Amino acid sequence: MSKLNDCYKSLLNQVNFKPAVGIVLGSGLGNFADTIQVVQTIEYSNIEGFPVSTVSGHKGRYVFGYVGNIPVVIMQGRVHYYEGYSMEDVVLPIRLMGLMGIENLILTNAAGGLDEDMKPGDLMMITDQISSFVPSPLIGKNDDSLGTRFPDMSNIYNKDLQNLVRNVAYANGISLREGVYVQFTGPNYESPAEVRMAKMLGGSAVGMSTACEALAANHMGIKLIGISCISNLASGISETPLNHLEVKQAADRVAPVFQKLVTEIVKVLKINSN
Ligand code: HPA
Repeated sequence: MSKLNDCYKSLLNQVNFKPAVGIVLGSGLGNFADTIQVVQTIEYSNIEGFPVSTVSGHKGRYVFGYVGNIPVVIMQGRVHYYEGYSMEDVVLPIRLMGLMGIENLILTNAAGGLDEDMKPGDLMMITDQISSFVPSPLIGKNDDSLGTRFPDMSNIYNKDLQNLVRNVAYANGISLREGVYVQFTGPNYESPAEVRMAKMLGGSAVGMSTACEALAANHMGIKLIGISCISNLASGISETPLNHLEVKQAADRVAPVFQKLVTEIVKVLKINSN
């Protein structure tokens, strides 16, 4: 049996909850889980075979509960490629949520801003991505039960959901930028020349997490959206050297607005199983 199926079996033995929406919380955004009606939590370390995150500031657990009347599963802490895991392990938690039955996924992250007029604390809806600087999580034998060998990627961040997010942001007076997310491996921040390259390629934000997760979720047919909290201007655009603490602090400052946005988005998602 595959590692994914082993993890799924271990999870089913401990959790009796069917989420419709998955939410992945990025650096400093973890407190969103405190705002929902929690039914159950499960530490990643209690799921047999689950890759456990090592970054400070990243808790490692699934939180099951309700936002309004929508059953959700929140990933409080994710697994990064730079921690040394295989790409297959990095996206395992996403696939596990897919097996649990989520129909929609909200990916969030802290990211470095590439557009000159960006400010730390800005929120950016991801409209598309460049994942070419990290290996595809789909490399290797394809698991046909998850998705097709050569999946289409023309609508990774679902366009209907993007419209829904725009409307929700507007209705709640939340200003929301839009742009392309470029993933690098990390753990080092980018050099100024890499940042210029990412800009030249059409990117608006750089980060170390989300594109591979989006790719794996899209492979499974999960409709998803992505929201970046611009925690800093990327290297070379920013005058000052970058550090992880600053990234977390900027994300913490915008947390209330971010939480409001995600809550209101979940409430208006149309869930088939409802
Ligand atoms: N680069 C990459 N990842 C990041 C950054 C950045 O500037 N800020 C937060 N995550």
